[in-house]
This record gives sequence, structure tokens and C-alpha cells, in this order.
Amino acid sequence: MNAQPAPKRLAGQNALVTGANSGIGEGIARELAAQGARVVVNYVVQPDVAQKICADINQAGGTAIAIQGDVSKEADVTAMFAQAIEAFGTLDIVCSNAGIQRDSKLVEMTLDQWNAVIGVNLTGAFLVARAAAREFNRRGMRDVSRALGKIIFTSSVHQEIPWGGHCNYATTKGGIMQLMESIAQELAPQKIRVNSICPGAIETAINRKAWSTPQAAAALEKLIPCGRIGVPADVAQVAAWLASDESDYICGASIYVDGGMTLYPGFATGG
Ligand code: BGC
Repeated sequence: MNAQPAPKRLAGQNALVTGANSGIGEGIARELAAQGARVVVNYVVQPDVAQKICADINQAGGTAIAIQGDVSKEADVTAMFAQAIEAFGTLDIVCSNAGIQRDSKLVEMTLDQWNAVIGVNLTGAFLVARAAAREFNRRGMRDVSRALGKIIFTSSVHQEIPWGGHCNYATTKGGIMQLMESIAQELAPQKIRVNSICPGAIETAINRKAWSTPQAAAALEKLIPCGRIGVPADVAQVAAWLASDESDYICGASIYVDGGMTLYPGFATGG
């Protein structure tokens, strides 16, 4: 007997992932493609890396294209959505994932460091979510999902945990929480689902210093009750589920993917 492969749960859907040429964004793009979505791999620099990710996906039988664009720039976001829609016809899943850190103590933080992080992480999230909602409404319902569209933000545990030495970054993540919840409330009647994933320490380039030596990794693991540093796949699987109809009743949620980092592990032995 020839067993038919199970239909992929994102088959027929089109996704765009910002900041998809490294780290968590790359993991999300690969996972959405593996689950049947056609994927736009957005990048700012290193087109060769984005092209390699697309080539891997296409070789594995998926469909991916790379589109350049800096999410902090309105014209870039407009052009990126126009190219994506021209290529795929429309979008069903938009992952606002692009994010940067420019770490500094408050008294040493320059306005450039502040503005760069606010621009990409928060203004970028606004511009991408706005473009997504406009496209979902323009196109209307189609029969690939119960939702008109899905917006998934990559936030952070630092939407909740204050982070000295990183106030610009933590501010953007707190801002994403209110952006996400406000637009989830506003867009739910239109059948647009908006949610956030809040990763903890995931092994990527953004936090290489925090895990790349045994000493640093041991110190970091003390902040993680589960005792291991996460990997992009830990986050990507949750993103695919949030993009699917299996989570159709999840709206305005922040899902912590952090090995328990938000459980105040210091209190396990103190307090
Ligand atoms: C940051 C990482 C950090 C992690 C846990 C993330 O949002 O980007 O640099 O390791 O939070 O603190």
C-alpha cells in the first residue's frame, strides 16, 4: 500500500519573514517552507546568504525568494510588499522578526544607538504590520485559512524582563507588546490574528558573546530553569503553529519560548 504523505498544514499559503537571513528569522523561514508555505526571505545585507537559504528551500521542494529591504524605511517596506505580492499574488502570513541590538549603558548610549534600535525593532514592526493588514484587507478571504491573515511578531522575554545595559532594546520589546495587543484587538473583527513569540536566550549571532565561551554559556544557563540555551527551531515550530489554523483561537497572545527564563529562576533558591 502506498501511504500518501500528510498534507502540509501551510500548503497554499504565502509568507513573508523579515530579517530572515540569519538566526531566528532564518529558522522561521525554513520551517514555514517545510510546512508548505511559499516564503519571502527578507534581508538587508549579505544577499548571498539569503540566496543560499532560498536555494536550500527550493532544492528541498519548497518555494522561496529573497527580497532586500530595510524595515525601518517606509519606502523599503512598501517596495518589499509590492515585490512579494507581484511574485506570489498575495500574502497570508507575515512574520515581523527583524531586530537588532546596540548595547550600551544609559549614560554612554548615543542617540544613534537609540534611534537605530527603535527604527528597526519598533518602527519596522509598525510598518510591516500596517502593510500586512492593508494587503489582507485588499485581497479579502481566500480558502487557504480560516483567518484573513496572520501577523506574528518576534518580541523577546525583554518585553517583560528589564535589561540594564540594553534599555533601547528592552524599550522596543515592551513597545511591541502594546503594538501587538492594540492591533490584535483592532484587527480581530476582520479575522486577522496577531500574536507574539517571546524568545529567551536562543543561540544566534545577536547574542554570540553570551553563549560562545563555556564560562558565558554556564552563566547564561543559570538564568534558564530548563538548563539549556535555545535553538532557532524551538522558536520556528511555534511560529508555524501560530501561522496555522490549529491556533485559530489564539489572538493577542505572547507566547514565551524561553526555557523558563521568565520564571525568576533566582527565586528558586532565594527570596
Ligand atoms: C536578546 C538576546 C538575549 C536574550 C535573553 C533576546 O531578546 O536578543 O541577546 O540573550 O533575549 O536575555
